Amino acid sequence: MAQIGPVTIDPPLVLAPMAGITDSPFRRMIRSLGGCGLVTMEFISSEAVTRGVGKELGKLPFDASERPIAIQVYGSRPAALVDAALKVQDMGADICDVNMGCPARKILKGSAGAALMDDLDLARRIVRALRAVLSIPLTVKFRSGLRDSELRYLELGRICEGEGADAVTLHPRTAVQQYTGRADWDQIARLKEELSIPVIGNGDVVTPEDAVRMFSQTGCDMVMIGRACLKNPWIFAQAAGLLSTASYSEPTLHQRAAFVRRHFEILAGELEGKDLLHKLKVFTGKYTHGLPGGRDLRRRLTQIHDPRQLLDAVEAFFDEIAS
Ligand SMILES: Cc1cc2nc3c(=O)[nH]c(=O)nc-3n(C[C@H](O)[C@H](O)[C@H](O)COP(=O)(O)O)c2cc1C
Repeated sequence: MAQIGPVTIDPPLVLAPMAGITDSPFRRMIRSLGGCGLVTMEFISSEAVTRGVGKELGKLPFDASERPIAIQVYGSRPAALVDAALKVQDMGADICDVNMGCPARKILKGSAGAALMDDLDLARRIVRALRAVLSIPLTVKFRSGLRDSELRYLELGRICEGEGADAVTLHPRTAVQQYTGRADWDQIARLKEELSIPVIGNGDVVTPEDAVRMFSQTGCDMVMIGRACLKNPWIFAQAAGLLSTASYSEPTLHQRAAFVRRHFEILAGELEGKDLLHKLKVFTGKYTHGLPGGRDLRRRLTQIHDPRQLLDAVEAFFDEIAS
């Protein structure tokens, strides 16, 4: 169990924010399997929220069953971030998180995401402005730095703590690295030694055993998991099992098939047309990774342009492997 301000995170395992992935249906599915103490929404543009852009505002609603939930905002203008953060607070989010780690060129161009690691004065002003208006906990997620020659995570961590952030998350790769190389867990350990607020460790947790190893190697307070839960949504429940009883079980193929069917039913109930087709293809790609015949199915799906046909093909695939 861990705390972020008054919010209890139990178990201390966190779903990472992933744009295009951690929408409400996916968060509800992860919650339904247990083991995840905090879910995070995909990041929200503070500028778009300020301008009232419908598509961005449409991402904000969440179900009570998802709580506790952190909503992550990004941007570079303190006034816009304050606007968006207040909106997030009004929506009833448990935690407001600020993105200072995104390496995407489009985000860096707007001086947001990891670009803030190159402008620590602005980063400080942002944390200060948000702390001044928010009554819910405030957290900041960042990388090691923008580039190898200038690692700024310790300095940024100290700034966040000094300005009253309630916790920080470190994904120990530079923005230039994107997702190449290995996450340097030693940096998580160094940050933990440096700060007294909780540190959430993130990066390259692929198995439940990795999650336990990240706790013991770094002393971090919580472990955040991203990509691995797309291939194995049970990873939170399994890591929680390892932490509490030193054991866990693998889902059966029936359970896997039922999970995918349920997720796709929810998506089909909430989306339509191209949006639905796109989401179904994204998740089918992840869920069938490594399964026998998965590659063949994914190849066939590129020819399908109707959501109903796609749902049928995926259902038939899982029925076959589960039989
Ligand atoms: C598809 C995708 C989208 C992501 N979107 C976000 C995001 O919106 N905000 C953020 O802070 N990090 C984002 N990330 C980074 C993850 O939160 C996490 O830091 C990273 O994937 C490393 O953790 P992992 O090795 O467990 O995946 C994204 C990662 C992926 C793969």
